[in-house]
Amino acid sequence: MAVVEAVVQRLRAVPGACLPILHAIQDELGFVPHDAVERIADGLNLSRAEVHGVLTFYHDFRTAPPGRTIVKLCRAEACQARGCTALERRLHDHHGIAMGATSADAAITLEPVYCLGNCALGPSALVDGKLVGRLDAARVDALVQAARGKRGKA
Ligand code: FES
Repeated sequence: MAVVEAVVQRLRAVPGACLPILHAIQDELGFVPHDAVERIADGLNLSRAEVHGVLTFYHDFRTAPPGRTIVKLCRAEACQARGCTALERRLHDHHGIAMGATSADAAITLEPVYCLGNCALGPSALVDGKLVGRLDAARVDALVQAARGKRGKA
């Protein structure tokens, strides 16, 4: 895969290159394909198990393509006190979107995050990297509707 090869070549000399390479691949592709593990291992003279260990240790890495919209819902204490658990349940029960998964229509990937520094205005989330606060059921429904209306790349 050309992207993986280019990233490995560009960053292989960086000290502790495995993590920066994984981040760069995810930044470019949205996820780290399984077959990238072998190429990274070869490029860094590591075992596949070592690279796989780094890839699976950090929950930020995805190994499958994400949905068109990525929602990172805060599950830390302050947001829990402000109702994030009910929002997570609503996403699951009303919209069929499970935490840690991508919806069947590929519209949304829902991931947990632990404190976005927006505690006083929680429940909070990052929606495609944009901070959103004061979430409630209606705002979550609107968010899902907007994401489902968003078209994928042709
Ligand atoms: S606990 Fe959710 S933003 Fe801090």
